[in-house]
Amino acid sequence: MKPQLLPCPRKLRRISGASRLDEATPVATQRSAALPPEGYALTLENDRVQITAADDAGEFYARQTLRQMIETCGGACDNLEIEDAPVLAYRAFHVDCCRHFYGVDDLKKLIEAAARFKLNVFHWHLTDDQGWRLEIKRYPRLTEVGATRPDSRFGGVIEGKPHSGYFTQAQVREIVAFCAARHIEVVPEIELPGHFTAAMAAYSFLGCTGAPVEIEMTAGIFPHVLCVGNPEAREFVRQVLDEVCALFPGRYLHIGGDEAPRAAWQGCAHCRERMEQRGLPSFDALQGDYIKELAAYLKEKGKTAITWNESLKGGQLGADDVLVQRWMERKPLTKPFAQAGGRVIEADFYHYYFDYPYGMTPLKKSFSFDPFKKTGAPTSVFGVEGCLWTEFVRSFNDLCEKLFPRLLAVAERGWSGFPTRSFPAFLEAVEAQRAPLAALGIPMRPRVDWDLPPHRRLPDIIRFFKGSLTPDLLRQGLFPDSGKKKEQ
Ligand code: ACM
Ligand code: ZN
Repeated sequence: MKPQLLPCPRKLRRISGASRLDEATPVATQRSAALPPEGYALTLENDRVQITAADDAGEFYARQTLRQMIETCGGACDNLEIEDAPVLAYRAFHVDCCRHFYGVDDLKKLIEAAARFKLNVFHWHLTDDQGWRLEIKRYPRLTEVGATRPDSRFGGVIEGKPHSGYFTQAQVREIVAFCAARHIEVVPEIELPGHFTAAMAAYSFLGCTGAPVEIEMTAGIFPHVLCVGNPEAREFVRQVLDEVCALFPGRYLHIGGDEAPRAAWQGCAHCRERMEQRGLPSFDALQGDYIKELAAYLKEKGKTAITWNESLKGGQLGADDVLVQRWMERKPLTKPFAQAGGRVIEADFYHYYFDYPYGMTPLKKSFSFDPFKKTGAPTSVFGVEGCLWTEFVRSFNDLCEKLFPRLLAVAERGWSGFPTRSFPAFLEAVEAQRAPLAALGIPMRPRVDWDLPPHRRLPDIIRFFKGSLTPDLLRQGLFPDSGKKKEQ
């Protein structure tokens, strides 16, 4: 039988005959410096497997391939030779644990599943307006106050009960170790200067007016931003980042940078003074300059900062300062950043945002997306990422069904590039993963929903937006960066 492999190996050659293949099949392994990082070669012949790997990660990926061969070949498998290595070094999945909290056990299931498909980055969204989910020892109120909201009123659904949860530092270490054993790097996101309400609910001096604010219970973009003109607020951020750096051993740290309204800065003497002192012509520049300062601070600690594409607007950030995660932009600023040598993570809203319904983002649409197109050339893209925001994701079951199978399209692109095989061939490989995923406790969306016929797509979209749009959200503009600008 022919194995169903996902992601698609870069080179696979059938050799004549077939081998008996199961857990008892002998596997010999060796290393070869001639292979690219994370790469491996695997041969199945004469009822034996030979693995040659570039490094530990390469051997791990060879074993994932072997596992899929065993799972999908049912005892007798075509003899074959595989030579395989990823196209992209950064292959990520993102989970928002703020809007709805998902704890250690759920995350472990997702991480295990992601590793099976050779994803190697877990982007962990830990702070937002509706919840601060990371224990910071120096600032205990961040979780004493910021980890609980009295209710959840996302869209039309009023949950009518408090929502609470955070990760202790011990739990973070547990997740980091769990990921490391699966060659996954954890990239924590400490979101600023916007999406900062939960922090300000805990420590009101962080805002421009110092006035108390309440943690948010609804979806949206909120005016409560970090006062970047206040030295004490900036010191607070450095102290938080110090603890985060100590907790997460990885190379990258995401510092947000999206959707930060400017009204508070406009009315703030401290922020205006900082602009004047630093010769910054706009609030976009004030943000870009601050992100650049933080990135330099993190660089001294051996970390590379990642920021959402909005931080490019001020024009401060150069190729060596940050990695940019592109999700949505009206004016294409990511492309020139990439062309100047900057590294970009492609997380296109219309293709790789999996909190939206299948009617809006069908599997075929995600699969057909060329992640190299927006930024110009394959060499300009450092990574791809599938995102799962959780305002409207109220159960782990729903979370899994939103991610799977669409996340597998991201895994295929990150490892195998674009284009790879045909969509029908990809579908076969996806379907073969239903049982293995179920065994991990991950339900996959029923196949009938992956690519709805046109007449069922619109009702699916309407149903979703009926449950998620409120008059407030409509007033803000659902996707503020895609429409008319109201800034400054
Ligand atoms: C984002 O989705 N606001 C990055
Ligand atoms: Zn201010």
